[in-house]
Formats: sequence, structure tokens, C-alpha cells
Amino acid sequence: MTTQLQDGFGRSIDYLRMSVTDRCDFRCVYCMAEDMTFLPRQQVLGLEELYRLAALFVRNGVKKIRLTGGEPLVRQGIVGLCEKIAALPGLRELVMTSNGSQLGKLARPLADAGVRRMNISLDSLQDDKFRAITRTGELSQVLAGIEAARQAGFARIKLNTVVMQGRNADEVVDLVDYAVSRGLDISFIEEMPLGEVGRSRGESFCSSDQVRALIGARYTLLDSPEQSGGPARYVRLKEFPDSRIGFISPHSHNFCSTCNRVRLTVEGRLLLCLGHENSIDLRALLRRYPETDQPLLDAIRAGLNRKPLRHEFSSNGDVQILRFMNASGG
Ligand code: 5AD
Ligand code: SF4
Repeated sequence: MTTQLQDGFGRSIDYLRMSVTDRCDFRCVYCMAEDMTFLPRQQVLGLEELYRLAALFVRNGVKKIRLTGGEPLVRQGIVGLCEKIAALPGLRELVMTSNGSQLGKLARPLADAGVRRMNISLDSLQDDKFRAITRTGELSQVLAGIEAARQAGFARIKLNTVVMQGRNADEVVDLVDYAVSRGLDISFIEEMPLGEVGRSRGESFCSSDQVRALIGARYTLLDSPEQSGGPARYVRLKEFPDSRIGFISPHSHNFCSTCNRVRLTVEGRLLLCLGHENSIDLRALLRRYPETDQPLLDAIRAGLNRKPLRHEFSSNGDVQILRFMNASGG
């Protein structure tokens, strides 16, 4: 029997974000500390366990799954996992968030496996700044990955840029130009206070309103009613109507009331809200009950009843969630 998962406020939960690894070949300043330690293998869900959970969620009304990391494409066996998840009956779309570094070789296999859309992080178009933000990333490799993705036949490609004063805020218009001239969407993201990354975030904070003003000085912004089922507000440019420009403002509460999502960490913890610590340990149940999904489903339902109404970030960085973004599934 299938049911539609719902939380205690009656919000239907039909979107699952799954982290498939905490590892990454980059060390972005807003995401990781320079010397990260990663999880030992036995604490990480196996591919079969990830698939079992994906199937369980889809049987219970999840229509969209986003695979994230860390960097999902550094996980061995990722293409095969995508193929199996994409084939689950009832799933409307499988999408992925990637840093682009492996897309040169994997874009086509992923599109063939059934990944429908791709979000690719791109914070700078200048080699030295790109390196300073990602610490280990190579811009040319990511740009080649974006080109490969364009050729591979995804339904849509969106770029994600975390905007920071003093690092890349001066490149906002260049990034818009790069995206719109290729027919890509782009979203600008306010930095979120996740994990202690070894510096103060307040001084680099750049609000979506500031980013909007930078773009508005060059282009005519047309407000767009479009919703992606996420925390983004969209505009289109009169001059380039094919692309959507998104503003993701995690500090505002505007999206909590329509929140339709939960996140699964690669350790099998179900996070009910990005801004809260409470979670459910699904890994223990997966391993204790290899033959039956009922205890898992019961725990998920009980957990959803405790899903908070809203998150509690604030832009002065007061609330610090002691969890790194790479462990939370983006
Ligand atoms: N604040 C905002 N966005 C973040 N990301 C990672 N860490 C943070 C953070 N602290 C985003 C990056 C990337 C995606 C995986 O998550 O933009 O695109
Ligand atoms: Fe890796 Fe993405 Fe985190 Fe950067 S933001 S370190 S690319 S997981």
C-alpha cells in the first residue's frame, strides 16, 4: 500500500534530498574547513541501502529526489545508483547537485541513466578567485564539465553561486552574462551558517537584495511567479527571457510554510529541517531490519510529525548549526 507522507502541519513531503557521500574534491570556504576529516566507510550508507531508502520514500509519495554530497560524483557506483533510482515507478524526476569537476566524463552517462536536471556550483569565472573559494578546484575543468552537461541533453541546467563580499560579489553580472548567453539558469545563494568553517561569516554576507540591485543596474528584471518548490524567488531578464535568475535567501522565512522536503545524510540520518538539529537514525533500522521496511516507515512517519514549522537562521550568524553542509545534503 502506498501513502503520501505528511508532516504534523499537513505539509505533503514529496521531495527527498539524499547525500550520497560526505567527500568532495573541493574545499569551498563556506562549506568545509581546510582539513576536513571524512566519515569512516562503515558509517556511510552502502549503495544498496541508499537505493532501499529511495525506493521506500518513492513508494510513500516522494516524487522528486535530488542526489547531493559532498560531491556526489566522487562516490563509486553513482551512475548505476542513478539508473536504479530513476527507474522507480512513481518518481517524477531524479536531479543532482554537483560541483562540475567530474562532469567532463560523467555528464553523458548520467543523462543516459535518467538524471533529468543538473545544478552545478560556479562561484567565479576567474582562475585565481575560483581557486581561492574552492581551495582545490580547477576552473577550466568545471567550465569543461558545464559544456559537457550542455551537450549531454539534460532538461535544464542551473548554476549555483554563493555570493560573498570581497570574494565574488563583483562578478555577479559576469556570472549572469555567462549563464544567459548559454541559456542556463542561475541562482544566487546567501551564505548559510552551517558548521564552523574557521572564519566569521558576517563580514562577507551579501544579501539577495544587494545581488538583485547589481543585476538590475545592467538588465531589466521582470518578476516571475515561478516556484521551484524551494526557497528561491525568480526573475527573468527582459533582454534574455530564456533564463531564470534565482535568489535563494535562507535567512528569510518565506518558504518554510510550503516546505515539502526532507534530507537524508549519508550516515542515514533523516534531517527534518536544515535549520534544526533533530534527526532520525534510519541507518540503525536499515541494518536491524534487513527484511522489512515497516519499522523504517513507522520511524519516518513519527519523525515527520516532529518536523519543525520553520528554521531559525539569522543573518548575524547567531544560530550556528553544528553540522557541515557536506554532511547535510546541500
Ligand atoms: N551557504 C550557502 N550555500 C552553501 N552551499 C554549500 N555550503 C553553503 C553555505 N554555507 C551550496 C553551494 C553548492 C551546494 C552544494 O550547496 O552553493 O552549490
Ligand atoms: Fe564540495 Fe560543494 Fe562543499 Fe564546495 S560546496 S566543498 S563543491 S560539497
